[in-house]
Amino acid sequence: MSATREPIAVIGTGYVGLVTAAGFAELGSEVFCVDVDAEKIASLQAGEVPIYEPGLADAVRAHRERLHFSTQLGPALEGARLLFVCVGTPPTYSGDADLSAVREVVEELPRSDRHALVMKSTVPAGTGAGIKRMLAERGNAGLAYVSCPEFLKEGAAMADFRSPDRVVIGDDGSWAGDAVVELYEPLDARLIRTDITTAEMIKLASNAFLATKISFINEIANVCEDTGADVLDVARGMGLDQRIGPSFLRAGLGYGGSCFTKDVSALKQLASNTGYHFQLLNSVIEVNELQKRRVIGKLQRHLGQLAGRGVTLLGVAFKPHTDDMRGASSLVLAGRLHAEGARIRAYDPVAEEEARALMPEVDFAPSALEALEGVDACVLVTEWPEFQELEWRLAADRMAGRLVVDGRNALDPEAVRAAGLVYEGIGRR
Ligand code: UGA
Repeated sequence: MSATREPIAVIGTGYVGLVTAAGFAELGSEVFCVDVDAEKIASLQAGEVPIYEPGLADAVRAHRERLHFSTQLGPALEGARLLFVCVGTPPTYSGDADLSAVREVVEELPRSDRHALVMKSTVPAGTGAGIKRMLAERGNAGLAYVSCPEFLKEGAAMADFRSPDRVVIGDDGSWAGDAVVELYEPLDARLIRTDITTAEMIKLASNAFLATKISFINEIANVCEDTGADVLDVARGMGLDQRIGPSFLRAGLGYGGSCFTKDVSALKQLASNTGYHFQLLNSVIEVNELQKRRVIGKLQRHLGQLAGRGVTLLGVAFKPHTDDMRGASSLVLAGRLHAEGARIRAYDPVAEEEARALMPEVDFAPSALEALEGVDACVLVTEWPEFQELEWRLAADRMAGRLVVDGRNALDPEAVRAAGLVYEGIGRR
């Protein structure tokens, strides 16, 4: 690696911040990480990574000598010109993105014509222009601004950093755009250079389109159930058309996570703030909400009243290979099952600790088989590989009832049926 790599600062050490920091440290940059959470910084200084993300802890450990953690911005400003902003932008009650953490960063910055803000946090289109106005009002117009949206997926974030489908860099022609391009050069990724607002829109539009694909295939799955078609074959048949592509056509119990939920509603809100009614996105959101609830209907169809019935959730995280519970479909399912009076059990290989406080009504077990003890039905919520390898004969021995609802279409129906159980997928024959 070149010894002359540009050092960087990373403000915010959540998923995006830590992966960005570890990734650039791996490429040879000195990285100054800053977070307001003193506890988190202390554990990072001690070599502990507070989130579960495959490969992240290894990368942080491997490049420790280049990773510096602090609650103070001072050392970062001294050590780096490029300040990557990776703070949270959660939704507000109105559906707009809450930019207060971004504003706090901007307010803390001293006057400088040596530094640049590089926005990785997902922000509404137009935010960069607003921040530049804010900087100018504060006499800080010399501070450069670049939009460099992040496209990593939780559970595969390090791999996504190392080989991104594309890197998008939006700037206004200052030195900083070229400096960010140079940082990414070793990854040899396809580069899109554009203006700041367009870069912001690429991020929002990408997430909204992926969410649209999911809601679309979920509606197709629901129609498959009424017509006797099989959604897996339908998705395969559609996906071979290069104009459609095979990914994000997995039907199931709806998308979860913090990003799609937040960004789809932020884009819808952004449009309506300017007077445009983004009709399609309303449907994407509604279909997703209904999809999570359809599983309850399937349980009721087989079991009748759910009061007093035992139901196990296999997996609770919003997707496999993460302990992230934000926007997880399991939260809606557990809430509905609780309201119906069901007894709820669950097992998740890594998310139990995150989940416990969020679902006090759920009785967690230390393994899948133990979670199935004496229940009437189970629902596969998160497609962890270990559920795909479950010995269904052993599961059948433990369960009091027969029903297996495969909320992710991830199981082998024949293996489940061979154990004497009743298999029900989403849009599967
Ligand atoms: C998503 C995007 O995929 C990333 O590109 C983006 O950077 C990120 O949001 C973000 O904005 O931060 P992520 O939320 O980590 O990434 O996870 P995905 O793999 O996209 O899955 C989201 C949800 O959709 C999960 O609940 C997953 O189970 C569900 N999903 C995904 C489906 O139901 N069907 C599919 O075919 C694919």
